[in-house]
Amino acid sequence: MKDVPAQPRRRTGGRTRLLLGGVLAAAITVSSVAVATLAHADLSGPPGTTLKAAAERSGRYFGAAMGGDRLNDNGFLTIANREFDMMTAVNEMKPDATEPNQGQFNFSAGDAIYNWAVSHGMRVRGHTLAWHAQQPRFWANLSGSALRSAMISHINGVMAHYKGKLAYWDVVNEAFAENGSRRSSNLQATGNDWIEVAFRTAKAADPGVKLCYNDYNIENWTYAKTQGVYNMISDFKARGVPIDCVGLQTHFTGGSSLPGNFQQTLSSFAALGVDVALTEADVTNAATNQYQGLTQACMNVPRCVGITTWGIRDSDSWRGSENPLLFDRNSNPKAAYTAVLNALNAASTTVPGTTTPPSTPTSTPPSSTPPTSTPPSTPTSTPPSTPPSTGEPGACTATYRTVNSWGGGYQGEVTVANNGSGTLNGWTVRLTLAAGQTLANVWNGVNTGTTGTISVRNASYNGSLGANASTTFGFLVNASTNTAPGVVSCTSP
Ligand code: XIL
Repeated sequence: MKDVPAQPRRRTGGRTRLLLGGVLAAAITVSSVAVATLAHADLSGPPGTTLKAAAERSGRYFGAAMGGDRLNDNGFLTIANREFDMMTAVNEMKPDATEPNQGQFNFSAGDAIYNWAVSHGMRVRGHTLAWHAQQPRFWANLSGSALRSAMISHINGVMAHYKGKLAYWDVVNEAFAENGSRRSSNLQATGNDWIEVAFRTAKAADPGVKLCYNDYNIENWTYAKTQGVYNMISDFKARGVPIDCVGLQTHFTGGSSLPGNFQQTLSSFAALGVDVALTEADVTNAATNQYQGLTQACMNVPRCVGITTWGIRDSDSWRGSENPLLFDRNSNPKAAYTAVLNALNAASTTVPGTTTPPSTPTSTPPSSTPPTSTPPSTPTSTPPSTPPSTGEPGACTATYRTVNSWGGGYQGEVTVANNGSGTLNGWTVRLTLAAGQTLANVWNGVNTGTTGTISVRNASYNGSLGANASTTFGFLVNASTNTAPGVVSCTSP
């Protein structure tokens, strides 16, 4: 989707905080239910009539993400319990939620989701330990070795609490830029080795959980960012940095829809010796062919272990105005649901190690042919084409709303509407962020600037707006205070 996100100090400094965190955490316990194991794959069984049953036939899972507020939403819980066997917390296990103040860990919100999920037979993906967004506020005041130590202490503190409980951890989230180099961030500024330090720390903290790198816009094999992440994983594998999986977020928008080479991307990562998973799938207007295609690509790659959608119903989605999920606001499954269910049931490969008996695998081994080509990047957001306009010019208006906010930032959305009678051929919205706020991610638009007055112009696919048409773009902001940005202007060429 979109345009969105030194040597480590030894752990001596962090130990004290870790112990303190352990004491605080002791009052809040996670369920003692052991990590559930998957049912054995059996492709000869009857087709599944739910997403999880259909996925389990081939040893895979079908997951969803939920926020803590959904624990009081029976409509959500009913579908979750019926259809899903893996759960991710939307925000509750992120660094700002689990360590709001240095050395003070708070697992209550994460545990509530965890406990609900495991008591309903699900496994849980941990999301996430180190990220440029949704950081604890105190990280903003740290840099260099102090920030590096804080990251290590954070990983140790959180992973100690969930040790032995989770199936996967997204250890590092969104560390690459669109051009395939590292994203600049305060963590990156601590030294290029911050990612491997995070993984080595995680491995020592909980040797049993699978450790993943997670990112968006890495679905298209020919895209520079995909190649950048691929090269890092390849390097980690060559040097023995512990990494078990790559999560492809699979947020598909009008500008980064399902690429034709998605299966090649999955099999190429898998050939490095990691599991792959689709971790946050959502597709603009739930395009049936894209949901079908993304599912089929996963089913065709033995080490593609499962798919998670980022929410269940459109009303749960962080991209709610794009109606991107498999269930509508009335909890009815969409056509895309049926397409996904059928594609899961049509799987012809099983996840290695899940077949019965284990000694007679029926799965196709992963391709061992490493990719040889590194094609040039194909950016998903190119400058708008400006077809000749006809009639009266369009009139651009921009309306801001806050979708969500938390201790260290917020998610915003701007609706760009054409109130004129002609067509709007491209638009640019200028916003002013309050002091201390930094833009972290933008999607469905292309930003210039990250602080103060920023501008966001249309992406390649949403610049043309007919009379009365509208579109939205979204963004994440890291902030010390969550003052909403001011809309300065909306202009069109
Ligand atoms: C999103 C949540 O869904 C929103 O509630 C929050 O406002 C912002 O973060 N990539 C990720 C997820 O890895 O953590 C993000 O979740 C969506 C993009």
